[in-house]
Amino acid sequence: MGTKTTSFSFLFPISVLLIFISLFTIITQTSTGSAEPLYTNSRWIVDEGGRRVKLACVNWVSHLEPVVAEGLSKQPLDVIAAQISALGFNCVRLTWPIYLATNDSLASLTVRDSFQRLGLEESIAGLQTYNPSIVDLSLIQAYQAVVSSLGSKNVMVVLDNHVTKPGWCCSNFDGNGFFGDQYFDPDLWIKGLTHMATLFKGVQNVIGMSLRNELRGPKQNVNDWFKYMQRGAEAVHSANPDVLVILSGLSYDTDLSFLSNRAVDLTFSGKLVFELHWYGFSDGSAWVSGNPNQVCSMVANNVKRKAGFLLDKGWPLFVSEFGVDQRGTNVNDNRYLNCFLAVAAELDLDWALWTLVGSYYFRQGVVGMNEYYGVLNWDWNEIRNASVLQKISAIQYPFQGPGLAETRKHKIIFHPSTGLCVVRKSFTDALTLGPCSKSDGWYYTPQKILEIKGTYFCLQVDDVGKPARLGIICMESDSKWEIISDSKLHLAAKTSSGTTVCLDVDSNNVVVTNLCKCLSRDSSCDPGSQWFQLVDTTRRPRLDSSTKIKSVLELGIAR
Ligand SMILES: *[C@@H]1O[C@H](CO)[C@@H](O)[C@H](O)[C@H]1NC(C)=O
Ligand SMILES: *[C@@H]1O[C@H](CO)[C@@H](O)[C@H](O)[C@H]1NC(C)=O
Repeated sequence: MGTKTTSFSFLFPISVLLIFISLFTIITQTSTGSAEPLYTNSRWIVDEGGRRVKLACVNWVSHLEPVVAEGLSKQPLDVIAAQISALGFNCVRLTWPIYLATNDSLASLTVRDSFQRLGLEESIAGLQTYNPSIVDLSLIQAYQAVVSSLGSKNVMVVLDNHVTKPGWCCSNFDGNGFFGDQYFDPDLWIKGLTHMATLFKGVQNVIGMSLRNELRGPKQNVNDWFKYMQRGAEAVHSANPDVLVILSGLSYDTDLSFLSNRAVDLTFSGKLVFELHWYGFSDGSAWVSGNPNQVCSMVANNVKRKAGFLLDKGWPLFVSEFGVDQRGTNVNDNRYLNCFLAVAAELDLDWALWTLVGSYYFRQGVVGMNEYYGVLNWDWNEIRNASVLQKISAIQYPFQGPGLAETRKHKIIFHPSTGLCVVRKSFTDALTLGPCSKSDGWYYTPQKILEIKGTYFCLQVDDVGKPARLGIICMESDSKWEIISDSKLHLAAKTSSGTTVCLDVDSNNVVVTNLCKCLSRDSSCDPGSQWFQLVDTTRRPRLDSSTKIKSVLELGIAR
């Protein structure tokens, strides 16, 4: 595969990038909780003190034929682990095949031998250079070394049983899809889960085990799902009561609807989490062939019906795979990501991005396959696409949850297509997009006025193509913001001459109002720049009651 076919002038060295990212990333992440078991409290994952820990993970692949975490032939393990943490991810979903835990002759193979048997001499040379201390470890020791390195950087780990037989996943007929398939013997699976749960008992940063990736295929059925997933959950819990037990749905983990009328029956509580996978291609090419407002509404409602309802029932929902082609050329993916981010922020979901991996040693018969969904580039030494990463960094921030209530609930005005929020420098400057941590608290009143908490200011329309402004006479239709379109992601108000306009941003990220675009039917245009999500948060806004007096002074100056 081409290694650097994209315009490399846009690829930053990691060090520069980290500075760049930190300008946008919220540094007040919840503690990574590297040292203690996690629990569930209703829909939230919490630490021992009951405080929310939002899982903001990245998937790291270690289940392909070599059974070695990808990238170790390109960068030192500790450097990769440090990068993960520096990019604001607090956790890794680390994949593994059952055979690693049940086939001793595989598990005891050295990393060198494993590559050798596949003819991957170049990877051995890379490992020798970057990870000489790993190359002669056994496969299971190498896996443990990865977990341990992540631990040393305070990165939590979810052990994800991805397949039984090492290799790329997933298809309906790969023999790894459902209980009873050629490579999916329930007893062997239980044995493997028990072994891994036992092996990592007492390893502090291993906070969860995801029992099986993407159940699927002709054999899938609800009765067996309950029968075996309950058995698996009990086996893991009795071997290692510290870990969260994470259960995948049917149909490639897109469907948990069968839990709406039947509950999982377990002997333990406070440890159960459900996982969901949601990609652009989960809905074929719907995003590119339909109107994005209508598709976003249809898809988001489906996701809520098939999985999101679990939150209302008091279960955590971990979107353990989502992601996009980071080249930015896949329109289906681009449109999907904006909608995904709006929903993920609104519901404040726990998640794991697919994927960290920039390239694979060997995937589907290809040596050195490029991974366009990867955060890192082919060489694992640069960020593939900083703007995609910046968007995603917006949801690393926990907006609410137990222990995070610093103030009364309010809104922030989130702009998914940039991952930024509406912010202001002062009361007189134009509003722009900036980091959500720098946002004021907004109230959306029953009169549909968007007002800055602790002030008399509200958001107002000036005219078509003009910056939105803050005013203090908030009774006219220029201050009344309707949430419109099927996606409910457009904020519309009227100019003084009665023209309906939508909140938008210009090329300098100044918040303006323009004619509303592609509200329905039209599939050729992308309304993404006009999508704003009002997100509930209890985190301290830039301006809260303690600074109210100051704001009144500022108001005096502004007047
Ligand atoms: C166990 O692993 C070895 C080494 O990869 C392989 O040759 C063997 O076929 C495996 N055994 C089973 C039962 O899968
Ligand atoms: C990064 O992704 C954006 C779309 O999100 C795209 O416009 C841009 O060209 C991509 N950059 C690179 C270097 O691939």
